[in-house]
Amino acid sequence: MPKRLSDNDVERYQRDGFLFPLRVLSQAEAAASRDRLERADADLSQAMKGALRHKPHLLFTWLDAIVRHPAVLDAVEDLIGPDILCWSSLFFTKAANTPAFVSWHQDSTYWGLSSPDVVTAWVALSPSTIEAGAMQVIPGTHKSDQIPHRETFAPNNLLTRGQEVMVEVDASKAVDVVLAPGEMSLHHVRLVHGSPPNRSNDRRIGYAIRYIPTHVHQLVGRDAALLVRGADRYGHFDLERPPKADLHPDAIEQHAASAALHAGILYAGTGRQDQRSF
Ligand code: NI
Repeated sequence: MPKRLSDNDVERYQRDGFLFPLRVLSQAEAAASRDRLERADADLSQAMKGALRHKPHLLFTWLDAIVRHPAVLDAVEDLIGPDILCWSSLFFTKAANTPAFVSWHQDSTYWGLSSPDVVTAWVALSPSTIEAGAMQVIPGTHKSDQIPHRETFAPNNLLTRGQEVMVEVDASKAVDVVLAPGEMSLHHVRLVHGSPPNRSNDRRIGYAIRYIPTHVHQLVGRDAALLVRGADRYGHFDLERPPKADLHPDAIEQHAASAALHAGILYAGTGRQDQRSF
């Protein structure tokens, strides 16, 4: 019996590789989260701003609350089962009227995970409209196997390696994932997706959270994750601790160790660990 999604929703996800919109935060909660993010952004040192790009839920209690929010997890559980790890999270922020974009890609390419049983919850903290460069997805592409990618390291590309699929993408089939603040989309790790620049006068802010069932393991090296629901009977990941308080010294220490493991996996073989998003 699904917890949050209807049987029809689950079938659509299995057929298309994505599902939206799902309301998970009220408008007021989304506005409060955006406010906290913008205050943190204004207050933090440059070094911490860089750190914010990697697993910020290990540093801030209000982000820990979002990654374990029942409205998010109930939907995720309907897709990947009751034992859930949060593997990563990051903000995809595009400033107003800027050329930053995300090329067509599959998330699975550099994550080193043993199974495509991986779902991203993308929570909008500002209006994600077509003008603002909402994410675009190509329905059904999650059923393809891993597609080869080329690494462009293009300067305005928000991805770690500027990676893009080495096949022609039929953009006429693209669906715009338009979300209001507090709504989320869910997408499969093999779904081909990307996003164009933000041509609006507001920041476009999305919080992407990567969830895996506990049976998935990391193929590249040792890795860490946060158990957010159920039990971990596998022990494939070092289990992280939630922050006791925002930027608590223990949280900062743990976060640095986890982020280093994470970056080592995402940049494996490139000789780089620069400041891009993932
Ligand atoms: Ni992606």
